[in-house]
Amino acid sequence: MSTPGKPSVRLIGLSLGADLCWPLAFEQILHDLDLTVEHEGEAVRFEIERITVHPFSLTYKPKYNVVIDRLTHWFATSREWLKKITLMDGVYVLNNPWTLQSMEKHTSYVAMMRLGLPIPETWMIPPKEYGDDGDTQVTVSRYNRLFDLGEIGDKVGYPAFLKPYDGGGWVGVSRVTDSASLHEAYDKSGTRVHHLQAAVQGWDKLVRGVGMGPQVMLFKYDPGQPLHGRYVADPGVLEGEEAWRAEANTRVINAFFRWDFNSCEMLRADGQLHLIDFANACPDSQVTSLHYYFPQLVISLLRWTIFCAAVKRKPVLNPDWQPYFDIADLDLSADEKLRRYDALAKQHFDADRFEAFCAEHLSGLHAVAHAYFGTEAFREVVRQKVAALFPAHEVDTFTDHFFDQIQLWRSHNPVEA
Ligand SMILES: Nc1ncnc2c1ncn2[C@@H]1O[C@H](COP(=O)(O)OP(=O)(O)O)[C@@H](O)[C@H]1O
Ligand SMILES: [Mg+2]
Repeated sequence: MSTPGKPSVRLIGLSLGADLCWPLAFEQILHDLDLTVEHEGEAVRFEIERITVHPFSLTYKPKYNVVIDRLTHWFATSREWLKKITLMDGVYVLNNPWTLQSMEKHTSYVAMMRLGLPIPETWMIPPKEYGDDGDTQVTVSRYNRLFDLGEIGDKVGYPAFLKPYDGGGWVGVSRVTDSASLHEAYDKSGTRVHHLQAAVQGWDKLVRGVGMGPQVMLFKYDPGQPLHGRYVADPGVLEGEEAWRAEANTRVINAFFRWDFNSCEMLRADGQLHLIDFANACPDSQVTSLHYYFPQLVISLLRWTIFCAAVKRKPVLNPDWQPYFDIADLDLSADEKLRRYDALAKQHFDADRFEAFCAEHLSGLHAVAHAYFGTEAFREVVRQKVAALFPAHEVDTFTDHFFDQIQLWRSHNPVEA
């Protein structure tokens, strides 16, 4: 409760690693927005703080209402701190640290296959090598059956991708075209467990659906380009029913696993969107990758975070899968199932209330963000990120390039009078 005349403050914590550009934009736009929201009879203001890592008593009381986290998937102290503040203190965290830790790419494949979404034929392959601790050697020598990798390759078909079952960032991903190249890739694959997955062939578009709560953005992606050019500015990358399917796929995956901020890679072929990679704990959010799409990402993140903070959204810790399975088992068309899954997903993310909240309180956000993304201060943010990644002689060129892409976004998304 706030005292009369004094607004109640919601504190948003940023749990960050190497991220540089989006936090600066996020902080500045929230500052410029100078927002006060009337919520259930109280005036609510918003503050941001970057979270530092320190020892904590398991009974201490955190001060944050919402935390945007970028460390859970690899930084144990922060992950366990997030579990504590979520479980004991009801802090809302993007993303749910438990499901991120326990659900890897493999789980996301099997779960979405269970829901009937189009996932390519995929096999799990035991690793090529094992550590030499005693129990492992005993287990492997007693129970690992010799297998014929070539036979599995024939069943999956070529080309195919050998990739870590819990991978990310293209690490350890090999495209194989025949039995010889499969054996060669497997022989180099070390101790990691891998999938062999049939390649989606003849695709004409790779789309990344980036989900942020109930919102989904569709970004065009071209894996054949050098890093700075992989995201391709294309506001109409998918349209109509196809755009809806891509959005629904992404939202359903995220609601199913209790992830707020996650991306889903889809390849369009044979009139379908094939899902190949959708357990991405910490989607690429750098201006040097996203450029044209960067403002949309920051704006969506602001909208969802402000909403969660304002209404004190409660963490939803446990997945609830049975309602999805009940729909999967009905005799319905794929689209009708997707529509019903999506209804569950929207319910999970409180989509109607979120939209109403944005219409009532955040109608000024676009104009504030639009102005910010045209400033010299923002150009300096771009420069800082470019300088962190590119050689000195390329900093000017790439700063201009990425800033220009963002000006293109501004011209495509003008502020309405
Ligand atoms: N089944 C597939 N069909 C076609 N291309 C694929 C397939 N699996 C992976 N790829 C290609 O390899 C890249 C990396 O694989 P991905 O599963 O996305 O791994 P990561 O999680 O490391 O990003 C994809 O972006 C895509 O270009
Ligand atoms: Mg990927």
